[in-house]
Amino acid sequence: MSSRLYLYPIWLRLWHIVNALFFLVLIATGISMQYSNPDAPFIAFDQAVKWHNLSGIIVSLNYLIFLAGTLFTGNGKYYVVKCKGLFDELKKQVIYYVYGTFKGQPTPFPVNKTRKFNPLQKLTYVLTMFGLVPLIIVSGLALLFPETIVENVFGLSGIYLTALLHGTVGFLLSMFLVIHIYFATMGTTALSNFKSMATGWHEPH
Ligand code: HEM
Repeated sequence: MSSRLYLYPIWLRLWHIVNALFFLVLIATGISMQYSNPDAPFIAFDQAVKWHNLSGIIVSLNYLIFLAGTLFTGNGKYYVVKCKGLFDELKKQVIYYVYGTFKGQPTPFPVNKTRKFNPLQKLTYVLTMFGLVPLIIVSGLALLFPETIVENVFGLSGIYLTALLHGTVGFLLSMFLVIHIYFATMGTTALSNFKSMATGWHEPH
């Protein structure tokens, strides 16, 4: 049995809880603005706009904490993806998720001091945190200040294209969240990863 590891420093836990809560507000208000019937909205339209804007600003500022913490503290090392051998590592992890875990086999990439994430988790986090999240922030800020958006792109409205990008990335991030929470239950016990995010300590296998 490995010993307990302190993997989630306080700044990371604070970033994560603020991010998670306001992401939920963004998804609820975003879905309400996108799909609900204006006569019977899920959330009153003006309220949805107000809360979406406020939460978007909070998530954007909060992202700077993640960025600084990950670039300038030891947390960054967990996000380094090496191309060499990546495909084989991903294959191993996928086989574990679709087969091994249901047979009670041990995880192929156990957590240790130098490896907080399995290869699939790492790649997903990198694409999400350094790809999708910056994209949704930049497109969201552009929509908040629409005068900054080019008017016409090959005959299509720049605002329309920005909104399309923002909505598409919002959908992908919502999918990420569902999958993220599902996989977060696959720790040592169903709740151990959630406890780790509350206390900072990884529960050993
Ligand atoms: C209700 C919402 C959420 C819950 C319950 C949740 C749960 C968790 C848990 C249990 C962990 C620790 C396990 C692990 O290391 O993977 C974690 C880590 C993480 N979560 Fe979430 N999460 C939520 C929302 C989000 C959102 C919206 C994002 C990003 C858009 C996100 C990004 C991350 C990242 C990047 C980590 C790893 C942080 C690090 O250790 O460097 N989470 N989450």
